[in-house]
Amino acid sequence: MGSWQRLLLFGGVSLRGAGGACAPLGGRRALVCRRQLSGSENETLKQRRTQVMSRGLPKQKPIEGVKQVIVVASGKGGVGKSTTAVNLALALAANDSSKAIGLLDVDVYGPSIPKMMNLKGSPELSQSNLMRPLLNYGVACMSMGFLVEETAPVVWRGLMVMSAIEKLLRQVL
Ligand SMILES: Nc1ncnc2c1ncn2[C@@H]1O[C@H](COP(=O)(O)OP(=O)(O)OP(=O)(O)O)[C@@H](O)[C@H]1O
Ligand SMILES: [Mg+2]
Repeated sequence: MGSWQRLLLFGGVSLRGAGGACAPLGGRRALVCRRQLSGSENETLKQRRTQVMSRGLPKQKPIEGVKQVIVVASGKGGVGKSTTAVNLALALAANDSSKAIGLLDVDVYGPSIPKMMNLKGSPELSQSNLMRPLLNYGVACMSMGFLVEETAPVVWRGLMVMSAIEKLLRQVL
């Protein structure tokens, strides 16, 4: 990523498609919690818990050329994530022209940043095979909406989503 990208805003991250990221707090879950565990089940659960906790958090990988990151996310759809992200990006760009602002739309299910930023088209590739973000209102934007036709049906599965986000995050100039 080039040095222009000092601050990167992640826009509109909805966790609804993240498969289990927002586990339902329905009656079924409560029922499981209420059931008395047998001694051996309890022991297995304890061991499993210790094993998971010892793994720790995933390693943080810095994003080259990016100094600060603001993530706009929620576990619910339609609450104003994209609107907030766009407003934040535009306000930051207007507030200090010396700062380079990037807006990354990681909503692969329904990217709305292209429409909100009035951008259309596909990113060009640099000589080093990195995608050049599209620019409007002084904010460089990258979104799955630039890479997939609006009408094209795409069935996203876990690993595909991760690899798409990795591309949007790290294979951009
Ligand atoms: N602060 C606000 N007050 C009232 N309406 C708002 C506000 N922010 C956003 N909206 C409206 O709410 C709707 C959803 O906003 P937006 O698309 O930003 O949500 P989202 O969380 O990104 O949705 P999705 O999960 O579908 O990506 C839009 O019609 C938007 O104009
Ligand atoms: Mg959105």
